[in-house]
Amino acid sequence: MLYSVSWASHLPLVVFCGLMIFNPAAKADTVAVMDIVQAQCLSCHQMDRKRVGPPFREIAQRYAQGPAQETLTYLQRQIQQGSRGNWGAIPMPAQNRISVQQAQAIAAWLLSLANSSTKEIS
Ligand code: HEC
Repeated sequence: MLYSVSWASHLPLVVFCGLMIFNPAAKADTVAVMDIVQAQCLSCHQMDRKRVGPPFREIAQRYAQGPAQETLTYLQRQIQQGSRGNWGAIPMPAQNRISVQQAQAIAAWLLSLANSSTKEIS
């Protein structure tokens, strides 16, 4: 009895932690995502125009059709490890300073661009 009472009193905390662990991108911190993107991606990517790399919106549109979870995992890895041969001759170098959590949040943000009309952010 004592056990079940103390368990119940911790339930909100347990649920909260569970959400944090299993769904880190669900509440992606938009500000942090934009900070990282601006600092580390926009030198090569733009929203709607090709620069060194493909436009973010075009990437979003290419991958938005896929199964959500697989696509997020795929993009998260590509963002961290870099990419070659998917868009042209120029490879994307690995982004060593991006954590798994950051890459997941960026991937979620990226996919959301497929259906939005966000203008240039730089
Ligand atoms: C040095 C230039 C450069 C930087 C910096 C860079 N990218 Fe890229 N990115 C590229 C190029 C070039 C490609 C195309 C690679 C290819 O053809 O597979 C690409 C491709 C991608 C793709 C598509 C991968 C695929 O499998 O289709 C994603 C997603 C992406 N970049 C996200 C990012 C994000 C997010 C950042 C910042 C954290 C970033 N990139 C920083 C140059 C860059």
